Amino acid sequence: MTHRENFGSKLGAILAAAGSAVGLGNIWRFPIETGRNGGAAFILIYLACIILLGMPIMMSEFLIGRHTQSNTARAYQKLAPGTPWKWVGRLGVFTGFFILSYYAVVAGWTIEYAILALGNQFSGQTAQDFPRIFTEFSSHPVKPVAWLIAFILLTHFVVVRGVARGIERWSKVLMPMLFIIIAILVVCSVSMPNAVSGIRFLLYPDFSKVDGNVVLNAMGQAFYSLSLGMGCLCTYASYFNRKTNLMKTTAQVCVIDTLIALMAGFIIFPAAAAAGYGLSPDDIGPSLIFITLPNVFQQAFGGLPWLAYVFSVMFYLLLIVAALTSTISMHEVVTSYMAEEFNLPRRRAALIETSASILLGIFCALSFGALKDFKLFDKTIFDIFDWTASNICLPVGGMFISIFAGWYIDRKLFRDEITNGGTIRAPYFKALVFILRYITPLAILAIILNQFGLFRL
Ligand code: PFF
Repeated sequence: MTHRENFGSKLGAILAAAGSAVGLGNIWRFPIETGRNGGAAFILIYLACIILLGMPIMMSEFLIGRHTQSNTARAYQKLAPGTPWKWVGRLGVFTGFFILSYYAVVAGWTIEYAILALGNQFSGQTAQDFPRIFTEFSSHPVKPVAWLIAFILLTHFVVVRGVARGIERWSKVLMPMLFIIIAILVVCSVSMPNAVSGIRFLLYPDFSKVDGNVVLNAMGQAFYSLSLGMGCLCTYASYFNRKTNLMKTTAQVCVIDTLIALMAGFIIFPAAAAAGYGLSPDDIGPSLIFITLPNVFQQAFGGLPWLAYVFSVMFYLLLIVAALTSTISMHEVVTSYMAEEFNLPRRRAALIETSASILLGIFCALSFGALKDFKLFDKTIFDIFDWTASNICLPVGGMFISIFAGWYIDRKLFRDEITNGGTIRAPYFKALVFILRYITPLAILAIILNQFGLFRL
């Protein structure tokens, strides 16, 4: 058995896990979901989902990973030898591979846009120009593929250096950078003229829009944003040391993730209001950050072109950093699995994952251009990947994780792990087990059935 690495510090462990959680889901998906689902009303439901559903599942993933000190597939094998539970871990590895392949396509686009912003290419463009710029780029036969490869190679470069010298070290650089950029952007955005109406929209709860679907969307967003359901956090927790307080770490990661999502809202809505732009549901999808926002930034700072320039450059840099810390975590799930299960050197395991994700990613990247007519159930390859991963793989994974933690894991082991052998108090223990047994599995089942139109709240 080769020596297994650990995160060298508590801060490093928190930043790595928070890095996995904070990503395109916070900066791009969260503001849109909020906009479509009733502003603050959605935020309140989302917060309830984070506390009631997200935290217990995150806690379970942490517990399973830290207890077994293994990759996610082996973790289940160790806790439930000779049972089919190992398939939950394997599903996680597969999902990680799958998500990385399409997530890195969008991440690659952020590099192109950061470069366009840096070269001041957005200046002087009108609202009609931005859709054209985006379509020309995303359907280009070479550029999106090149940026996809670049992004996965960037991820590879970090992962291959290992847990402490790669993932932890880079998380310690990238996460503070992300906090600083996002804080500057929020201050800029909320101090624009007319920003108040954007803020009002974000803080005014419109309960008339709330229905069952809004609740289900909030749950789905919470899982996606917290990186739950595919063993990412289980894998990271396998590098936690025995003294890590799992409950505290769970709370810290959830607070950071939620704060960043809210801050993204405080960037996008005030800027849109300042630009005199009402974000409509049609702005959903990649078009928000690649068509609507570059235009919003130009209009919002119309009188101060240098500010529009700096704001746009920082925004796309923020997206690159946020996406990178997430792709690292997806890559690590597969790399640790390959290395430990097939006894490969880490370098080779990472190389296999990198090559496979690039190969699969190319099909996704081309699905906006050369392969755009290749459709299944009326969905492009990219859409099929996104839909399958977020609507099937993650919820199914999350559901089984909560059933495993609530019903299968021995109670004493569970308590020992969250109290660090009885050294910390866990007054919430019974409530936690109850939620994992009954609430989370049923809630997730509702999400899944809802996707297929088999259930409506
Ligand atoms: N949490 C990431 C985001 O918000 O962008 C996305 C993600 C990362 C989902 C890792 C799932 C995962 F395992």
